[in-house]
Amino acid sequence: MLQLGDEVTLYSVVFALVLLGTRSPVWTTALTASLYLFLTMFRFPQVPTSRALQVLHPVGPGNVSVVAHRCGGHDAPENTIVAIRESSKNGATAVELDLEFSADSVPILMHDETVDRTTNGSGPLSQMRLSDLGKLDAAAKHRLRDKFAGEKIPTLEQAVEECIKLQLTIYFDVKGHPDEAAAALKELYKKHPVLYNTSIVCSFEPKVIYRMRQSDPEVVTALTHRPWSLSRLGDGAPRFSSPWKHRWMTLLDVALDWAHHHVLWKLCGISAFLIQKNFVSPDYALYWARRGVEVVAWTVNTKVEKDYYQDVLQVNYITDSLVEDCEPHY
Ligand SMILES: *[C@@H]1O[C@H](CO)[C@@H](O)[C@H](O)[C@H]1NC(C)=O
Ligand SMILES: *[C@@H]1O[C@H](CO)[C@@H](O)[C@H](O)[C@H]1NC(C)=O
Ligand SMILES: *[C@@H]1O[C@H](CO)[C@@H](O)[C@H](O)[C@H]1NC(C)=O
Repeated sequence: MLQLGDEVTLYSVVFALVLLGTRSPVWTTALTASLYLFLTMFRFPQVPTSRALQVLHPVGPGNVSVVAHRCGGHDAPENTIVAIRESSKNGATAVELDLEFSADSVPILMHDETVDRTTNGSGPLSQMRLSDLGKLDAAAKHRLRDKFAGEKIPTLEQAVEECIKLQLTIYFDVKGHPDEAAAALKELYKKHPVLYNTSIVCSFEPKVIYRMRQSDPEVVTALTHRPWSLSRLGDGAPRFSSPWKHRWMTLLDVALDWAHHHVLWKLCGISAFLIQKNFVSPDYALYWARRGVEVVAWTVNTKVEKDYYQDVLQVNYITDSLVEDCEPHY
């Protein structure tokens, strides 16, 4: 769905900025026209609304979908088969799976680039083969490690098969490796066509989503965003101690935020926008609804907040726990 207001704002801002910078009406017109052509020629249309709705509201259009973050990392060891089963048992409608790769290029579930935080091993994933990963205890660092001892790091294939069996919707979270990830996911969709109706590919990196749609335009996708993420950490603390670097990054944050809301969503043809929960309001949800995009909030971890997202905002939310209030896991 195209908003005329959007288009006018986009090109007016670009026109004004370029004119200010170049003082040349000719260059300004040429650049603005090029941007228009680029967006028109290279953007991907959104998938049909009916399919996006199936993915985002598997229970029904009026029902908020509850997504277990990293498969519900508070209730069980994150990104494991047992966590997928616990999430399903505790009423999640969807799980978020973090896609990574072993050194021998097998797609697996892992949030970090090293195994240190979650397992009893140590070192970067890029140096560990699947057979090495198979020896690790994925529950080793979890608060319930005794209950879940010996849980393995699953391959993407194993995790997806479990989700299909339990009829859970999947939010694939892809951090990097645009080409590898798009190829692996394309293969997966080919093998399990039901995923077109039951999963969504999400990333902080527009490049990943664009690449995904290039390799298979039928896949439902979302961009993930946290305003001020370049200059600040998840808890709000500045990322850089140098004040100049901080200011520069803050400026880039403004540009990135603007690009997400005005250009990137359209270029990628996303169906949902996953945003840090503090930025969601009724007006904000409406902004996206007008563009045919649904807001999904992360990470919503208390009962009071969950009720608010479910009953007042009616916005899907991602949570670390299906059973109790807990601290956020960034
Ligand atoms: C779906 O929404 C309806 C109406 O709000 C509600 O009565 C029903 O319990 C919901 N179903 C589930 C499974 O949450
Ligand atoms: C990690 O735990 C598993 C299962 O208990 C064990 O077999 C393995 O040797 C341990 N690996 C390391 C590096 O400690
Ligand atoms: C996806 O959903 C549509 C509409 O419900 C259905 O016709 C189609 O067969 C489904 N595709 C798969 C692969 O399950």
